[in-house]
Amino acid sequence: MLRSNMKRRKPLIAGNWKMFKTCQEAVETAQHLVKLIADNTTIDVMIAPTFTSLMPVSDVVKGTCVALGAQNLFWEPEGAYTGEISSAMLVSAGCSYVIIGHSERRQYFGETDITVNKKIKAAIKDNLTPIVCVGESEKERESNHTFSVLDKQIAKGLEDLIPSDLETLIIAYEPVWAIGTGKTATNEQAQAVHQYLRSLIEKKFGNNLANSVSILYGGSVKPDNIKELMLMPDVDGALVGGASLNAETFSKIVLGF
Ligand code: PGA
Repeated sequence: MLRSNMKRRKPLIAGNWKMFKTCQEAVETAQHLVKLIADNTTIDVMIAPTFTSLMPVSDVVKGTCVALGAQNLFWEPEGAYTGEISSAMLVSAGCSYVIIGHSERRQYFGETDITVNKKIKAAIKDNLTPIVCVGESEKERESNHTFSVLDKQIAKGLEDLIPSDLETLIIAYEPVWAIGTGKTATNEQAQAVHQYLRSLIEKKFGNNLANSVSILYGGSVKPDNIKELMLMPDVDGALVGGASLNAETFSKIVLGF
């Protein structure tokens, strides 16, 4: 029987800045954030600015409790792929995390479970921690397909991964209907899905990895709902969009549970 053991999993609060902020704005927000959470030692914190802001923000967060992540990558190491960026390039820009398969990428940029799978493998090969996003649409939830959607996203997205790959991988459950809408999943809805995802990992990779894998919740996380969400035994942190853009608001989420 799978036993949740939240204490063994260090919480991660990750900010996805999406396509917001110029380099200057990104640097200023990062500087402000670093000051506001300077005393934090208990929680992992990551921010993912746009590609163009990675290098300047990397200089700001170096040596602080804030890690750097990218919002996407391409799976080939290099080559004639105009407009794309490889995992090694992200590492050289200071990244230690990369968000993969965000629903906006699936919706607007043709990302599929197959491309997600290739990107995960490329990230792991270069020691980047992938944050793999899964989640159902409103229609899928209403027609009771949430679990079957997740079954497929996990089966195909994590295909051919080996147990050691799971030691670094992080999953983010982001119900599409809760992203940027102000509609958060209830704590119980989030817990039910997180527990289900953990059981899928258990079937595929065994009990130990199921207990150690971090599963973040994402979708309208704010300072006033983080505490309740983090009380859920299988919620190990949050992937925050809108509320991560303002350093004060984001710091209240980081320090708010
Ligand atoms: P949101 O976005 O917090 O603005 O809902 C979350 C995400 O897209 O990762």
